[in-house]
Amino acid sequence: MTKPAPTVSEPVAFPQDRTCPYHPPTAYDPLREGRPLTRVTLYDGRDVWVVTGLTEARALLADPRLSSDRTHPHFPMITERFAAIRERDRRIALVGRDDPEHHSERRMLVPSFTLKRATALRPQIQETVDRLLDAMEAAGPPAELVGAFALPVPSMVICSLLGVPYADHEFFEEQSRRLLRGPTAADTQDARDRLEAYFGDLIDRKRAEPGEGLLDELIQEQLHDGALDRDELISLAVILLVAGHETTANMISLGTFTLLRHPEQLAELRTDPSLMSAAVEELLRFLSIADGLVRVATEDIEIAGTTIRAGEGVLFSTSVINRDTAVFPEPDTLDWHRSARHHVAFGFGVHQCLGQNLARTELEIALRSLFARLPGLRLAAPADEIPFKPGDTIQGMLELPVTW
Ligand code: HEM
Repeated sequence: MTKPAPTVSEPVAFPQDRTCPYHPPTAYDPLREGRPLTRVTLYDGRDVWVVTGLTEARALLADPRLSSDRTHPHFPMITERFAAIRERDRRIALVGRDDPEHHSERRMLVPSFTLKRATALRPQIQETVDRLLDAMEAAGPPAELVGAFALPVPSMVICSLLGVPYADHEFFEEQSRRLLRGPTAADTQDARDRLEAYFGDLIDRKRAEPGEGLLDELIQEQLHDGALDRDELISLAVILLVAGHETTANMISLGTFTLLRHPEQLAELRTDPSLMSAAVEELLRFLSIADGLVRVATEDIEIAGTTIRAGEGVLFSTSVINRDTAVFPEPDTLDWHRSARHHVAFGFGVHQCLGQNLARTELEIALRSLFARLPGLRLAAPADEIPFKPGDTIQGMLELPVTW
């Protein structure tokens, strides 16, 4: 059956800030009405496609005619800061590359991110979570949950996995924050320069004195064999560190906030903790924290009765896609009795999140342990006064004051 061409109303601006931290911005309502594909306007006045239907999103994210190459002259940039990075012609590892280069980078990393590896890390993750909860309990109540728990859990886990000293966490957390949402393009560039310099030094030190961790393995197995050069390894290290802690930290903080705002669902979860893995999946769908995947078409593509022309930009609003009523009935309701598995919160296709097994494991352990340890956990400030992140970055809470 041929689908009717989508209605293209006046394009809305993209991205926009959420009005409620766990729902897509109300300004995206026309995108929901324009499913499966409509148009949005970027900060620089450029109009691009935005995909909002789940079936079309999965088809397009798996389509090699869409490129992730940030150096492509027509690659759409959703903020001025990221555009400035492209102007310096930086090659972003993995997520910024197409196959076959992308595949050869990803292949080296896959064995470290399997479900088996994530499962093997469970005791270590549990120990990290317990230690942080001990410290939080000893110091409080109250507590600021982002700094005391949501950020350190994934930060400690990714440091140990990569072989990065956690003692340097203040430095790299600050640079990641500036990289993802620094106030200016210069700030974003400076953060990237600093992270690259940091990893350059760390790699040189590790070459002289090998330690334990994925970076050491890559140095031994790939750098020595010439499969990777030093700059490529630096670029991989930056993305693994940044993607490995920022995203999961936001899911923990926003997931906690969302559960505290849904007391009935939370009560059910407390009674039956075995629901936690379904709850994590539904929270991933419901929160869609990475809400704006970006591609450029390298050839004409026919989809949903429309032609995406070569050179046109294509965005994926995961928050709107994951609320596609054709797949998720009553999508604005948080309900882990549905099957949320088909969501695209981790993307889809060759770039689908490399760390998803690790992220699910961390989320399940962190949320289960937090609510088990502190049964009286509640917000320590009015919900509408708690600041959350702007729409042009990964979604999450800027801070989360809690008490118990
Ligand atoms: C809940 C937490 C997380 C979410 C919501 C998330 C989301 C995503 C999404 C949507 C993509 C696809 C980007 C695209 O197609 O343009 C992605 C890719 C990626 N993620 Fe995650 N991520 C999370 C946690 C992690 C963790 C813990 C790691 C660990 C290192 C990680 C590493 C990566 C990497 C390396 C890629 C690029 C993969 C590639 O291009 O082949 N992520 N992630």
